[in-house]
Amino acid sequence: MSESGIENLLQEDRLFPPLADFVATANTTQDHFDEAAEDYEAYWMRQARERLSWFKEPTVALNDENAPFYKWFEDGELNVSYNCLDRHLDAGGDKVAYHWIGEPGDKRTITYNDLATEVNKFANGLKSLGVERGDTVAIYMGMVPELPIAMLACARIGAAHSVIFGGFSADAIVDRVEDAGSKLLITCDGAWRRGTIVPLKESCDEAMSRTELIENCVVVRRTEQDVSMQDGRDVWWHDLIADQADTCAPEHMNAEDLLYLLYTSGTTAKPKGIMHTTGGYLTGVATTHSQVFDLKPGSDVYWCAADVGWVTGHSYIVYGPLTNHATSVMYEGTPDFPDKDRLWSIIAEYGVTILYTAPTAIRAFMKWGVEYPERHDLSSLRLLGTVGEPINPEAWMWYHENIGGGRCPIVDTWWQTETGGIMISPIPGVTATKPGSATKPIPGIFAEVVDTEGDPVPLGGGGFLTITKPWPSMLRSIYGDDDRYVSTYWSRYPGRYFPGDGAKFDENGYIWVLGRVDDVMNVSGHRISTMEVESALVSHPSVAEAAVVGATDDLTGQAIAAFVTLRGDAQGSDELHEELRQHVADKIGAIAKPKSIIFTPDLPKTRSGKIMRRLLRDISDHRALGDVTTLANADVVQAIADQQTEYDDD
Ligand code: PRX
Repeated sequence: MSESGIENLLQEDRLFPPLADFVATANTTQDHFDEAAEDYEAYWMRQARERLSWFKEPTVALNDENAPFYKWFEDGELNVSYNCLDRHLDAGGDKVAYHWIGEPGDKRTITYNDLATEVNKFANGLKSLGVERGDTVAIYMGMVPELPIAMLACARIGAAHSVIFGGFSADAIVDRVEDAGSKLLITCDGAWRRGTIVPLKESCDEAMSRTELIENCVVVRRTEQDVSMQDGRDVWWHDLIADQADTCAPEHMNAEDLLYLLYTSGTTAKPKGIMHTTGGYLTGVATTHSQVFDLKPGSDVYWCAADVGWVTGHSYIVYGPLTNHATSVMYEGTPDFPDKDRLWSIIAEYGVTILYTAPTAIRAFMKWGVEYPERHDLSSLRLLGTVGEPINPEAWMWYHENIGGGRCPIVDTWWQTETGGIMISPIPGVTATKPGSATKPIPGIFAEVVDTEGDPVPLGGGGFLTITKPWPSMLRSIYGDDDRYVSTYWSRYPGRYFPGDGAKFDENGYIWVLGRVDDVMNVSGHRISTMEVESALVSHPSVAEAAVVGATDDLTGQAIAAFVTLRGDAQGSDELHEELRQHVADKIGAIAKPKSIIFTPDLPKTRSGKIMRRLLRDISDHRALGDVTTLANADVVQAIADQQTEYDDD
């Protein structure tokens, strides 16, 4: 098996059956799985019709004539902002759409009526600047309500948006604006982050000095420092909407019209403009948001603590929750400002019932210690979710016990920018969970773990994750590069979608996503996933976070090099070094024992919180460090490199 797949080393025996109250009341039951297994196109058609309001109902679910350029609901017509707003107003316009909390402590309560008014006005504002159906508007903002308002206003008039994460540099703006051909850029004067101002407008000025394309820049006043406004080009948001009418008819869009582009920040190659269209995407996010989070729109206070600049925010802060008429919390700043209990104080204040966050955040909470959540009453929580990376079983248990009070199911949701919505996840009330496993595909999604030949691995095997049938919220292509779309996702296993992740398939048929296949190590001919060794390290009580990479080794091809951050007051020492190596050997076997362990206060991470193993490989192999501009914490890399040199000298 090791020749063709990936070793299956980590054993996890803890099983959490669905809780009785979820079994009794959950939105989704085994029947949904059965219905989808029988006729998945009919199943998705039913979701599309029942969950969305169409100007013209679709009659065809899937068109696969020109695979892999699949189309969904292609003769349907709808408008996304109409689905998120208008249709809720008669009976539920007073309902809160967002409880918004600014980092400095200011607050706004925004009802569906308020949101609709602002979206209509801004949509008219966009038109007054000459934005037309079919244009692509660039958006570079902080986490303020005007961000979803801008996205919905684009959708209302049939313009696509391209949201650029507010932590990126001017370079990223220029690349994305030029790739998409955007003529309008929407930004803020600045964004609050850990008590300081991120000068967003300044980055836009720099970007606009390097590209001719931008004709107008709309600026939200948020942080109120002086910014330069160029006459004729730059306009304040509040001036633009001051005299606009508060009604703007929603464009009737075809289901396959472009809703947005979102660039995946490749660390080496040119970013890919992932294309999501209207009807299929909205069907996918509305369905998954209701099924996976078991959303009860009448009583839940839902909080996805991601940034709208990532796909998680697009699908599960904006489009899914609003389509489902949910009440959400939206928070502007960082979880440690003014103190490390900010999230927990917000949960207690608003009675949040559903929390969705990332493993990297959970590992930070573990490192900070339980005293922070213990300061607040978290008893309103009833369901927890994670996304973005494999969650180490120990982090899962910590989340379960210290945040969920042992009573909340955890949905570990696997998906990607490309998939648009959640693909593999427990369904509360149906799926028994295992810490660290995303479990099984949701109804209507079909996945298999295969070996290098494309043959499904047996129970207990490891290999490559593939999706075997198209799905409504899938990407339609890479903007301007159909060939790259086909070669990246559809060529390695013809007829299947290849997401680029390794996975194992356990004895019970559960899927464990192990991370990107580039992160697999090869030790003496055994393919070992970085995630399994990291999880073994994190299961030691002194360890908060671990990253391992394969360092070049004359003897074994690659040797495992580990980088470890410690919890609370723990200190690195020779004894702990040996203890941790032995701990890994005990947990998963001697083959996976790290050759070296370096203790470090932090690990290099991308701005979305993913560990950058590529840089750690460079350090281990004493290569010149690659590009660090996409890092959230670039200074940590040199510190680790210095420690590596010291370690090697010892
Ligand atoms: O490697 C998988 C990992 O994140 C990748 C997708 O990243 P991105 O497009 O930035 O989207 C993140 C938010 C959806 C995947 O290919 N990933 C995401 N969720 C999980 C995960 N790995 C393991 N378990 C997950 N739950």
